[in-house]
This record gives sequence, structure tokens and C-alpha cells, in this order.
Amino acid sequence: MCGIVGYIGEKCACDVLVEGLRRLEYRGYDSAGVALLVDDHINVVKTIGKVSVLENIIHDSKSARIGIGHTRWATHGEPNSVNAHPHTDCSGDIAVIHNGIIENYVALKKKLSCLGHEFKSQTDTEVLAHLIEEFNSRADNLEVAVRLALREVDGTFGLVVMSAKEPEVLVAARRGSPLLIGLGESEKLIASDASALIRHTRNVVYMHDNEIAVVTRNNVSLKNLDDETINREAEYLTFNLEQIEKGGFDHFMQKEISEQPETILNAFRGRLKDDEGIATMGGLRDVEDKVTNAKRFVIIACGTSWHAALVGKYIMEQHARIPVEVDYASEFRYRKPVLMEGDVVWAISQSGETLDTLAALREAKRAGVPVYGIVNVVGSTIARETDAGVYIHAGPEIGVASTKAFTSQLAVLNLINLLVSRKRKTLDAKQGKEIIEEMHRLPEKICQILDQKERIKEIAEEFRDSRNFLYLGRGVNFPVALEGALKMKEISYIHAEGYPAAEMKHGPIALIDEDMPAVFIALGHSTYHKSLSNIQEVLARKGKVIVVANEADGRLKDLSDHIIEIPRTLEILSPILSVIPLQLLSYYMAIERGCNVDQPRNLAKSVTVE
Ligand code: AGP
Ligand code: GLU
Repeated sequence: MCGIVGYIGEKCACDVLVEGLRRLEYRGYDSAGVALLVDDHINVVKTIGKVSVLENIIHDSKSARIGIGHTRWATHGEPNSVNAHPHTDCSGDIAVIHNGIIENYVALKKKLSCLGHEFKSQTDTEVLAHLIEEFNSRADNLEVAVRLALREVDGTFGLVVMSAKEPEVLVAARRGSPLLIGLGESEKLIASDASALIRHTRNVVYMHDNEIAVVTRNNVSLKNLDDETINREAEYLTFNLEQIEKGGFDHFMQKEISEQPETILNAFRGRLKDDEGIATMGGLRDVEDKVTNAKRFVIIACGTSWHAALVGKYIMEQHARIPVEVDYASEFRYRKPVLMEGDVVWAISQSGETLDTLAALREAKRAGVPVYGIVNVVGSTIARETDAGVYIHAGPEIGVASTKAFTSQLAVLNLINLLVSRKRKTLDAKQGKEIIEEMHRLPEKICQILDQKERIKEIAEEFRDSRNFLYLGRGVNFPVALEGALKMKEISYIHAEGYPAAEMKHGPIALIDEDMPAVFIALGHSTYHKSLSNIQEVLARKGKVIVVANEADGRLKDLSDHIIEIPRTLEILSPILSVIPLQLLSYYMAIERGCNVDQPRNLAKSVTVE
């Protein structure tokens, strides 16, 4: 959820932290703060709002060589400067930054208050500072105090602690929230996301759950919470700085939408056997039999990734003839799901850190079924905890609204479908080759859609004052409608609903009047003619009709206020194309309405709390 960065070394800690926080801001941005060790005391500066505001109010801390910084996404206590992190103990000698939720904080707060601790904020996090203070008075050092304190804590944490009494040490701990340690020469960094440390080092150690790290400028000692030493090899980060910068675009979302010709190519790269009409994925090689012989697929995911899963269901049931169930990870976990021998569970996640998805996959593992991942962020928790999986290779996605990750997830689901269908012989080599040929054509077709951005911008101008939107599609276009509506809600704050077009007459049609635009995804496939009837139904009630279509025929032209034409492709691949105009429409709508595209209100890029 939030962004965490810690630094110890020879550089100006303040500059390293602020630069790191800026890169992490997409993870949470309601408030920000730093704690820096200056002349043996901890100087805490925090504020509501963005890192840029924080930067302007940090004075006199340039000499610090050790510090911690945080961008918050509030769970407990409103966003204000008091609730912003770091939080300190009563003495002001211990400072803590935290990502996650301390579930028993009310009981702990009560206990600590009785012991005389004075609380300043409404956050759950502050109990950590006081709890550590309590143990620190009896423990040998900060590490021991943190370990003892964490034994009292229920909930999730990624945290970094510093103490004025131990000016050469940062202590980090993790349960449920990502943390990695960057190993520089005579300097170390701790961060919730690699983007905050890549400028300084590419050698990193990922912390696992229930681990504690003691970090000095020359050393990292990793242990579990039971005090047993852990030896873990460092890993090398391969992405480059350019990928996490805007590169001339106004917004990350705009950049990420425009990257899709390339990201789709990357998802397919090296995975298509053109002459055999089949796909191959290194990450699934060892489990190919389990995948192809599965009796059922269960896909768990949240948000946009859940929409991708729904597309996967349509595709795989149609071709591979495997029953596919799609579940919200958060529901799956608490629903006592029935899992059986022969089931294969897939977890789809861009970030690989979504807590609901992680908890659901652990639930599935407990039930003894194989769990495979479809993940973007390399080395993320979900990627590590799944038994096998496929990376989508979309590169870092920074815009909070997911765009390129969605189309790359669809690309990978299509690869899995191709592999499984061919192995199960529900598709023959000729059909497989046809699919591959079409896959190769997608990047070019995406470019043709991106070329229409001016036209989509005009549509956004026309509808900028609309208060509601309806997105309608049938079959494989239905999840695309859901995704279009989610994009509109997330970044333009316009109420939008996605429905299967045929369901409209069972209720939502009551909403239609002259002020209600309805966006139809009506491509020239199996359900096209039925969709035309649904469009008529909207028109008959004076609704405004925007249609995403293949080459528009005369009939469609008569029926629509606006048509966005997209190139034809196979039905199973079509969502990769049809979602792009919807991404652009929400983007331009947000711009028209003056919204913050990359950091929409109340949201954060990865949701690492329940
Ligand atoms: C997408 O635009 C959203 N911001 C959100 O729904 C997201 O897809 C969801 O939180 C799941 O994230 P994940 O793919 O990283 O697990
Ligand atoms: N629960 C903590 C808070 O509300 C941490 C939130 C976060 O992860 O940003 O302050």
C-alpha cells in the first residue's frame, strides 16, 4: 500500500529518501514523512499531501547519513500530518515507518497507555513505536526489542525502525507487506519496491514473511522472528530507470497505454512455436502435465486482474473445454471454497503483492491443490509463493489505473489457452497456427487504435459533464465492459457500470435517459447481431450510444452517436484491442475534468492490506 524507504550509508540520507519516496508515491500519497538522524537526535518531518510538499519543509537535515521515509495510504486515522509516518515513541528516540495493519492495536494501545505511554496519533502504527520503546528499556539492543515487540502483534507489517541510541543500524521486519534490501557499497537501502533503490544498486535481497533484518552500512543480517540466521543469495534487478520514468509523456498512464504494442510483443516473445501452432512457457514446463490434465481451473484475482480472469474463462471454456471458475480473491478466502483433486488454481496479479490474492493462494495451497501465478512484478511475493507460473513481462506499471498489465495478462491467458487446447487436442495444429498468426498481428493493430486518440479525446470533451456511464458487451466483451467502467470510475470519478448487454433489460435499462451515455463493445463476432438489438433498446429510450466496433456497417452507423472502429481479430484475442479505446476514453475524460490521472483519490497501486 504505502511506500517505505530506509537509507544508511555515506550519501545525504535526506536526498536519497526524498528521491525514493517520489518513485514510491504511486503506492500511497495522502501524506509523507521522513525521520533523519541529525546530531544524535531524530528529526521527524511530516506533512499531509505529496512528497513535493514534504521536500519543501525539510530543513537542516542535510548532514544525516541515516534515515527512513514513508508515503502513506491511510487505513487507521484520517490523512493528516499527525497521522503521517514516521511515528515516534515517548522519548522521540525511536522512529517507525510501517505498511500494513496492526489488528490488535486497540488492546495494545490500552495496555501501553496504562503503562504511561502517551499517544499522539489515531494510527495503529504508533503502538509499534511505544511497544518497541517498552521492550527497548529491557532488551540488549534495538533488534531484540523489535523482535519481542512483534511477538505481541497481530496483523501485517513491513516496517523499518531506527533509534537515536543505535545510530549505525536500521532494523526491518516483514509479515505480509513487501520489503527488499538494496546492497550498495558502504551503503544499504530498504524499500517496499525496487523502484526506490535502483538508482543506487541493482543487488537486492528480498525479505520473506516473519523475517527481521539488521542493516548497517556494510552488512545485512537476516534472521527469522525466532532468531535463527537465514542465508539468502542476492538477486540482480534487470529493469532500467527509463522504464520507471515518464519519458516525455504527461502521465504514466498515458505512457503505459502507448507501450502496449511493445508489451504485447514482450508477453509473446520466445513463447510461440509458429510451425507447430502451439505455445511454450518456461515457467510452466515442469507442470505442463498437471495444467493440461486439470479437471478444472479456478482463477483468483482482484480488480482489473479479475476482469482478465473473466476473459480467460470465456477463452478457455470455449477452446480448451476446461471448466473455469473465477473468484474474487477476497471472497474465495472466506467462502470455504470446494477444491478437489484435479483442480489447478491460478492467481493473477500485476503487482504480485495484493494481500487478498496472496491470502487466497495460501488458502488454496493449504487445500493441497497446485497454485500457479500470472504475475508482472518479477520476484514479488505471489510470484515466489506460487508453485510455478508465467511472468507477463509488461515492465513496471506505475499509473494506479492498470492498463498495459491487463492486455499482457490477456496475452498470457491466450498463451495458456493455446498450450492447453493443443495438448488436449481440442484445437488442431492448423487452428493453432491461425491463432499465432493473429497474435503476431496484434502490435500493429494496437498502433492503429492508438492513432485514433484525437477522435477519442473529442468524445471525452463531449461527455465530460456526464455523471453516469453504462458499459455493455456480450460474451467476451462483457469483462471488457467491466474493465472500461472500472477505468472510468477510478480516474474520472464518474459513476460507471459494466453489464452483459442482454442483462440491461432486467434492470439497468431503467437508468437510461438522454443524459446517459452507453458504451457498447459490439465486435463482428458471435453476438454482434444480438448487440445491435440491445443498442436499439438504448436508442428507443433516448440514450446516447458510443460503440466500439469493427468496420462499421451502415446499420451500426445509423444506430450510434459515435463509432470507434478497431481492426478485426479473432474473438479470443479481441479484448486486447477493444479495451484500448476504453482506456483512452477514461484517460481523456480524467484530463478534461482536471483529475489526477496517475494518483486518483483514495486509491493506491498495490493493495497490501485486507
Ligand atoms: C486497476 O486499475 C486497479 N487499480 C486495481 O483494481 C487492481 O487491478 C487490483 O488492485 C489488483 O491488483 P494486482 O493485479 O496488482 O493484484
Ligand atoms: N495502517 C497504517 C496507517 O494507517 C499504515 C498504512 C500504510 O500502509 O500506508 O497509518
